[in-house]
Amino acid sequence: MSCATVRCVVCAREFAPQFAFQVAVLDGGRRYFCALECRKAALGDSAFGGQRRSRRVAILNQKGGTGKTTTAVNLAAGIADRGYDVLLIDVDAQGNVGTSLGIRGERTLYHLLVEEGTTPDDVIVPVRGHLDVITADATLALAEVFLARIDTGRDRILRDRMASLRGKYQYIVLDCGPSLSLLNQNALSFADEVLIPVSCDYLALVGVKQVLKTLKDIDQHLGHTVKLSGVVPTFFDARTRLAREAVDTLSGHFKERLYEPIRRSTRLAEAPSHRQTIFEYAPDSSGADDYRRLVARYVSNAAPVPTSNPNPNPTQRPEAA
Ligand SMILES: Nc1ncnc2c1ncn2[C@@H]1O[C@H](COP(=O)(O)OP(=O)(O)O)[C@@H](O)[C@H]1O
Ligand SMILES: [Mg+2]
Repeated sequence: MSCATVRCVVCAREFAPQFAFQVAVLDGGRRYFCALECRKAALGDSAFGGQRRSRRVAILNQKGGTGKTTTAVNLAAGIADRGYDVLLIDVDAQGNVGTSLGIRGERTLYHLLVEEGTTPDDVIVPVRGHLDVITADATLALAEVFLARIDTGRDRILRDRMASLRGKYQYIVLDCGPSLSLLNQNALSFADEVLIPVSCDYLALVGVKQVLKTLKDIDQHLGHTVKLSGVVPTFFDARTRLAREAVDTLSGHFKERLYEPIRRSTRLAEAPSHRQTIFEYAPDSSGADDYRRLVARYVSNAAPVPTSNPNPNPTQRPEAA
């Protein structure tokens, strides 16, 4: 009897395969997954289809100014720096993603949602190696009006429009606006997970509770489950009691799903006006360190990682492609 062990390509655990779902032939090679969860993280929902699928994460908090755009831009850029193909979608009419990266799309998310026959490829703008963007601007507010007039399936328009992209990107990051809009519902119908940045003030928990309620509503009304992949404390200042208390409270609620805090950093506030990510603008800053750690944790987070050991395997890549 053979008990040869192999290594799970997602969580690096050694195991002896017993079930058909634990092996997939991809790009001519065998890939092993110790658990269904790892297989899903790498290949998507289809346990036996072996189809490539993006990991889609919405950066959401219904409060404004909690670091959503900063997190979306630097998470997307950091993942792209690791060699994955990433699409960053701006779902906020403020259009801060394009501004932060110094690009303006001729055609934007508005066109994709509203104009019949527009495909994702018509609106995608390549911005850096491995990083593409769909921008937004003030016209996105009109898309909200357009969506409101649709009778059925108005919360799934984005998902339908993106269908032709299947397999092109390993990661899709959605930067959401600070409201409970139809646009955000579209983002959540499309996403598999949410990451919630919360600023370390005394109202931190309120914003998160709103998001959790939204996730529950999406689950109940749209029949689509969105996983909470993590809560990220932002604007953290270890010198203030308020910030430490906010992190303690969040830690009590979210346990291993709480990410390490992103510290308040002048460099992070300055980078967008230089049209750069934090890794380009100030690679040695605390902001770059914090977002590098966030990226490592997010990418290796196919299986939950305890906060006491936040970064056990930063270079592990899920073999999604
Ligand atoms: N950790 C941080 N330290 C200092 N400034 C930050 C930090 N994170 C974000 N900022 C700045 O705070 C403002 C709000 O952040 P942003 O990411 O745009 O929030 P949101 O998208 O949630 O509205 C921006 O000017 C941004 O540059
Ligand atoms: Mg924003």
